[in-house]
Amino acid sequence: MVWDFVELNPFSRTGWSGASDWVMRVIKSISEGTSQVGYGSVEKASATKSSLPDDSVNCFFSDPPYYDSVLYANLSDYFYVWLKRSLPHLSDFFDTELTPKAEECVVDEAKNKDHLFFEKTIGQAMGEGRRILTPDGIGTVVFAHKSTVGWESILQAIIDNGWIITGSWPIDTERQGRVSAVDQARLQSSIHVVCRPRESPSGSLRSEIGDWRDVLQELPQRIHDWMPRLADEGVVGADAIFACLGPALEIFSRYSSVEKASGEEVTLREYLEYVWGAVSKEALGMIFTDADTTDFEEDARLTAMWLWTLSAGAPPSPLDKGGAAGGGIDDDDTDDTGKPAKSTGYILEYDAARKIAQGLGAHLDKLTTLVEIKGDKARLLPVGDRAQALFGKEDLNAPTTRRKKKSQDKQLDLFAILGNPEDSDSSSFGDPGVPQVGKTVLDRLHQSMILFAAGRSEALKRFLVEEGIGADQRYWKLAQAFSALYPTGTDEKRWVDGVLARKKGLGF
Ligand SMILES: C[S@@+](CC[C@H](N)C(=O)[O-])C[C@H]1O[C@@H](n2cnc3c(N)ncnc32)[C@H](O)[C@@H]1O
Repeated sequence: MVWDFVELNPFSRTGWSGASDWVMRVIKSISEGTSQVGYGSVEKASATKSSLPDDSVNCFFSDPPYYDSVLYANLSDYFYVWLKRSLPHLSDFFDTELTPKAEECVVDEAKNKDHLFFEKTIGQAMGEGRRILTPDGIGTVVFAHKSTVGWESILQAIIDNGWIITGSWPIDTERQGRVSAVDQARLQSSIHVVCRPRESPSGSLRSEIGDWRDVLQELPQRIHDWMPRLADEGVVGADAIFACLGPALEIFSRYSSVEKASGEEVTLREYLEYVWGAVSKEALGMIFTDADTTDFEEDARLTAMWLWTLSAGAPPSPLDKGGAAGGGIDDDDTDDTGKPAKSTGYILEYDAARKIAQGLGAHLDKLTTLVEIKGDKARLLPVGDRAQALFGKEDLNAPTTRRKKKSQDKQLDLFAILGNPEDSDSSSFGDPGVPQVGKTVLDRLHQSMILFAAGRSEALKRFLVEEGIGADQRYWKLAQAFSALYPTGTDEKRWVDGVLARKKGLGF
């Protein structure tokens, strides 16, 4: 458990009163009945067993645990033992020695609570929610998770228990000043999944089988209509992907089941692969505004979509460990001084990366000089790390100085890979012993970024002018798009901007 706030000194000016005044005002206005909210009533019960009668509420709202993110019951024990003593008149709320754990709806391997337990428990709670809600009532479930399995679990539970998912909105629920939970997905916003009972006005569950072809046909149009709206609201990246789940799932969950022509039932998992694909294609169209995205090879499409997925929110800081898709800049490296070293890649959860790649027709397993896969993480390699692959190994000169700090390595490595400036600046790319021009637009852009980074301006000029690389409009389109996608403060952002700055001067 990692604490994410510190206790204030209660005797400081902002201390006690700052922390308690606003809470007191809320309690006072609610208890006096002067608040617009009116009176509330609170019950201590598991969400799987509500004491409310059938069809008795108009709105069901749940903020369940986010899969395995926080083990609330363990955390609460710390406070529970003190509250129990300081609030003896509320003894009904504190009738157990410690907080109840058995029914807690989380994934916790230590307590043998796996994803099936989570799915079953949350499913029971969703069933209860539908039972107490009127047939025309509305439900909202808050969720945020870095993994696609977490998402699949909750969506499955909602749909299996007779709900139609109709919308999903990312809402910034975390305080800006909050220090990110170290080593956990940083949840910038939680997604509010809006749903309605799949019931007829009489309250009985509707049963209708959907045709897979119709569902697939409707999906791209739905995403196409929805994404610009999200972009207008400033919702991009992983948040936008999750915000598309609602409209996308409406098409699927309005049916009790969806079947292929063969009669085979389509699983939610399979449908979600198509959703990711549709979202990726749509997002790509927005990234390369006026370019035809099929102009670019799979490596450029994947890189663009990867960076876009990670693009939600503020520029990365050393504490950022990723957004909703479990991504982020890899900052595990530290230099000899113990300070975080420069970014060493862009990390996505492997399953998210696989889904994005699949949707774009890219093959992760073939792009080995671009993406590294380790366990459940996929890392888009930083451009500096691609130098060797892009400029060939034959020319490698071993670095002459013994390297001390990792942060100084980049420059040395590049010279080692590119050879001595005086040796090669007069020969042409592709000459014997001189690197080949990259095969794809992305490779060529990365080659120029590396030349820029190594200060090889003559070689860069020859590359763009004599080799004719700069005459390809796609090259500049990609550079322009990447300038917007690489996070501020990264090497890549500086390098691509450096290349772009030469465009006019070289006559392009
Ligand atoms: C994401 S938190 C909700 C936080 C709340 N919205 C807030 O702002 O304080 C999830 C909550 O669900 C509770 N919970 C877990 N399993 C439950 C169950 N079976 N029945 C009711 N509540 C449960 C946890 O104890 C935790 O307080």
